[in-house]
Formats: sequence, C-alpha cells, structure tokens
Amino acid sequence: MGFLNRKPTSALGIDISTSAIKLLELRRQGKGYRVESYAAVPVADDAVVDHQIKEIQAVGEAIGKALKKSRSKTRQAAVALAGSQVISKTLTMPAGLSDDELEQQIAIEADHYIPFPLDEVNFDFEELGPVPGEDGQVEVLLVASRTEQVDQRVASLEVGGLMPYVVDVEPYVMENAAQLLKHQMPNNGDGATVALFDVGATTASATILHDLKAVYTREQVFGGRQLTDEIMDRYNLTFAEAGLAKKTGEGLPHGYEQEVIQPFIADLVQVVNRALQLFYSATPRYGKVDKIILAGGVATMAGVAEMVEEHLDVPCEVAHPFQDMQVSTHANPNALERDMPALMIAAGLALRGLE
Ligand SMILES: Nc1ncnc2c1ncn2[C@@H]1O[C@H](COP(=O)(O)OP(=O)(O)OP(=O)(O)O)[C@@H](O)[C@H]1O
Ligand SMILES: [Mg+2]
Repeated sequence: MGFLNRKPTSALGIDISTSAIKLLELRRQGKGYRVESYAAVPVADDAVVDHQIKEIQAVGEAIGKALKKSRSKTRQAAVALAGSQVISKTLTMPAGLSDDELEQQIAIEADHYIPFPLDEVNFDFEELGPVPGEDGQVEVLLVASRTEQVDQRVASLEVGGLMPYVVDVEPYVMENAAQLLKHQMPNNGDGATVALFDVGATTASATILHDLKAVYTREQVFGGRQLTDEIMDRYNLTFAEAGLAKKTGEGLPHGYEQEVIQPFIADLVQVVNRALQLFYSATPRYGKVDKIILAGGVATMAGVAEMVEEHLDVPCEVAHPFQDMQVSTHANPNALERDMPALMIAAGLALRGLE
C-alpha cells in the first residue's frame, strides 16, 4: 500500500520572529493547498533579538500557546534560521561522489570557508549540477551555521510540544514561498524578474526572483520597530501604546501622519530603492524588475505599495499568498486575512513539509 512512504497531506511551519510566533498549517488539496490552521502569539520584546532566541522557555511557551490556539493535530514542524545566521558557499567538487564521500570531502575543506571552530558548526549541502564547461566537476552548495542557533530553535519547539523535522534557512524559504505569489506576477512568474520584500519588525529582506528562482538576496536592518520607537519618543508613549497607536492612530495628536508615518514610508521607499540599485549593479543581466511585491507586517500599512510604485516607477502590490486557497473553519479567516502579508515565512515552511 505504500504506507511508509506516503507523503504527508498536511504540514506545519513555525516562524519564530521578533514580534510573534506565527504558526501556519497547509494541507494539500487537488493541485493546490488549503489553509488548515493559523495562530499567532506575541513574544516579549527581548525574547528574540537579532534572530537569536534569548529566552528559550518563553519562546517555547508561546509556541505551545500557538499550537493550542490553532487546534492542529500535527506535531512535526519546520523552522528556519535567518539568512544572517548562515554562511553559504558554492564549492566545486569532483562529479560522481556518493553523498557520504561528498560529506567527507566537504568536512575536510569546510574549515577554509567557515570562520568558526568546526565542532560548533552544523553544515548541510546540496548538489546543484555540473559546472558549465568543465567535465567531471559539479557545483555543491554548502550551508553552515553555528550549532547553537539550530539548538535554540529545536529546544524552543520541544518546549512547545513540537518535533522539528527540518531547520531551513529564510532566504530559501522565501524563494519557496514565492510560488504562492505567482498569481501576482507578470506571466505567472515565467520570464519575469520580481522583487519580493519582507519588511518585519526589525529586518527587511529582499529576494529577487527570475523565473521564480532567487537570483539575489539581501537582509537589512529596517522595520516597523523603528516607527514604534519614534512614536514612543516623540509622543511619550509606552511600547504597547505606541504599537497600537501606529496601527489605529489612537492617542496620537493631529498631524501625526506627516510627522511620523510619512517619513517612515519615505525611509521604506529608500530601503527598497537601495536594494534594487545594488541588485542592478551586481547582476545587470536581468534588467529592470517587472514587479515589486511587499510582504511583512509593514506591508499592511495603508498606502505603502502606492508610495513605492509612485516613487520607483515599478508596479507594486502587497503579497496575497493565500488568495486562491480555501481556508478551514479552524483557521480564523479574519485574522488570516489581516496578517496574510506577514505569513510568507510560515507558509514557505509549511510547504517544505508537503514537498
Ligand atoms: N497595520 C499596521 N500598521 C503599522 N504597522 C504594522 C501594522 N501591522 C503590523 N505592523 C508592524 O509590522 C511589524 C511586524 O511585522 P512582521 O510580523 O512581519 O514582523 P516579524 O516577522 O515579527 O519581524 P522580523 O521579520 O523582523 O523578525 C511590527 O513592527 C508591527 O508593528
Ligand atoms: Mg518576519
């Protein structure tokens, strides 16, 4: 009956991010997917700093809460490291080695590439294919991270009652999640160059895709936290008050839009523009991007896509990864609709489990 190698029909992705734990479960349905469950639980301000889990117990408890809230029965989940927590290098190796032989060879060479002691490092590799124009050589992608970073994630999931089945890396997860945005791309992504930005609480990541493959990625320190800080300082509010105020305008004086919101959006436009300019100078062969898609919590602010489009003269939309999906009654459809742009990483991780 093929019972043992049956592919799972549903899978959980957990995004352990600066502002919240976001849990999303996708299920296969026909040729596509449906959203089986969704829950987000805020984490304390200092629990996750620079993508490092500082408070494993608190993060684990938030994961446990999210799991309970979601009512998911699945107990295996995928998590990710941030791009800045890994080193990736493309190596050239002799063709025809077995996985074990490759691993041995890479272990020997790895200390040339990895700037930490090897006994503190996890590494993984993937054969990319033959080196163009060189017989008998293959390209191998080596991805390495500090064991500590992986262990923090695994331990947090375990506190929350979940088993990790994969620890992925955000830029790859984002590339994978981009397939859910095909309907927003010219020609469904075929031949198109699309810049996908995820602007969260503290990090803005750029993933530039050509034919749906990532050809350029970059992370920058920029996010909604900066706006919250500005509102706290200027209007003398607490972090929680400022966080709410920026979404609703509640408790802010007349004219706050011009004072704080507009300058923040102008900064965002600059962040996007800078990433595009760097992409153009690094890889001119792709030409101008055809479309910008904005994801992350910041993308839910009114008018951001319009501002980017107007200033950079490239069509721009907010990400709608679940637009074509059915949503289970378990998953709160209103919360899902509101948070949708901020769920790219969670969605890409869930997809990993269904591959
Ligand atoms: N409606 C809104 N108006 C303004 N800001 C918003 C709105 N909704 C969310 N945000 C902001 O978006 C940010 C959270 O976005 P997101 O969930 O993508 O971040 P994150 O994934 O937790 O952070 P990071 O990716 O940096 O670790 C917060 O700064 C939040 O205040
Ligand atoms: Mg994020």
